[in-house]
Amino acid sequence: MVARGSRDDSSPQEPCYLLRNMISKSPALCIYPAGWKLLAMLALVLVVMVWYSISREDRYIELFYFPIPEKKEPCFQGEAERKASVIFGNHTRDHPIFLQLKDYFWVKTPSAYELPYGTKGSEDLLLRVLAITSYSIPESIQSLKCRRCVVVGNGHRLRNSSLGDAIDKYDVVIRLNNAPVAGYEGDVGTRTTMRLFYPESAHFDPKVENNPDTLLVLVAFKAMDFHWIETILSDKKRVQKGFWKHPPLIWDVNPKQVRILNPFFMEIAAHKLLNLPMQQLRRVKQKPTTGLLAITMALHLCDLVHIAGFGYPDAFDKKQTIHYYEQITLKSMAGSGHNVTREALAIKRMLEMGVLKNLTYF
Ligand SMILES: *[C@@H]1O[C@H](CO)[C@@H](O)[C@H](O)[C@H]1NC(C)=O
Ligand SMILES: *[C@@H]1O[C@H](CO)[C@@H](O)[C@H](O)[C@H]1NC(C)=O
Ligand SMILES: *[C@@H]1O[C@H](CO)[C@@H](O)[C@H](O)[C@H]1NC(C)=O
Ligand SMILES: *[C@@H]1O[C@H](CO)[C@@H](O)[C@H](O)[C@H]1NC(C)=O
Repeated sequence: MVARGSRDDSSPQEPCYLLRNMISKSPALCIYPAGWKLLAMLALVLVVMVWYSISREDRYIELFYFPIPEKKEPCFQGEAERKASVIFGNHTRDHPIFLQLKDYFWVKTPSAYELPYGTKGSEDLLLRVLAITSYSIPESIQSLKCRRCVVVGNGHRLRNSSLGDAIDKYDVVIRLNNAPVAGYEGDVGTRTTMRLFYPESAHFDPKVENNPDTLLVLVAFKAMDFHWIETILSDKKRVQKGFWKHPPLIWDVNPKQVRILNPFFMEIAAHKLLNLPMQQLRRVKQKPTTGLLAITMALHLCDLVHIAGFGYPDAFDKKQTIHYYEQITLKSMAGSGHNVTREALAIKRMLEMGVLKNLTYF
């Protein structure tokens, strides 16, 4: 008779028996079927994890290293306001950044000036616009202890600047007019918290060049600008007369993302930064650019204000393009009512006073 085997517990069907014989004959190494499954699962999980981490380099860093704390600019609450008060005085914080319906509906907020420096004579049009738009500052900005802001100008100096990542790190990114983001991300970043514009400068695709939560801040230069935004937002009959360049006829935005900038900032930009006399404010010969206006607003909204892409080429440099995205020269500024020499002096002064800091050469 053939012996069945030296031990009774062994049967050829049992993998434990095979393994023990193959490796060491020690019962301690016996692995039962349930254990095999667990081991295989663990190995699979590990393989998937490693594959996923390697395929996503940023994930790899997160999973296997401690994240490097982001180095942000130190921010001191109220610093911008304190430094700017030398220029603007101490009373300007009381003014809301955006116009509110209640100030025109329940009470008649008097204004000494007509647009762009005040709302005198445009109240009725304004009321209709304020009824369909909004005025709130997003909770994400309001809840910040200290607001770091960057105003991104449209200047040629942003070209090949590689400032995109630096710009995206600020809490609030303010852009101007039709400045494109798509295709220029490396130099100008991807985030847009607010975009200041006027009808003639609204030739950008709001969905492509903005983020879904970007605030669209209308800078009104004339009463027609209120009229335009009303016709666009409530799909009324468009008017083409009264603009120095055709504004867009179709503009796909959510009215709740639209804000109306308080013309008070235009007034103090003109009066306190450019030192234009009040008399001139009434006759409106010169007016600040959207860029200078955005800086003025930022100094009231933020605790720290940095600028990038500001500055124009020298007046004698007639061939140099002025924007990072289009081939136009200083010639196109003629007759615009902007005095770029005067604005440059104002910005230089603010840089010297430490009210602003520049990320590109100014
Ligand atoms: C504003 O107030 C600060 C102190 O709170 C003061 O140092 C500064 O001189 C004031 N500026 C003006 C223009 O009154
Ligand atoms: C930017 O970089 C590109 C490619 O490196 C180069 O062709 C171009 O001339 C640069 N533009 C400016 C304005 O320096
Ligand atoms: C622009 O500003 C400069 C500097 O303040 C001044 O000399 C010049 O006359 C101004 N130009 C116009 C057209 O007002
Ligand atoms: C800011 O502008 C000054 C010249 O006005 C320049 O020397 C400095 O390099 C600029 N800063 C940056 C970060 O470009």
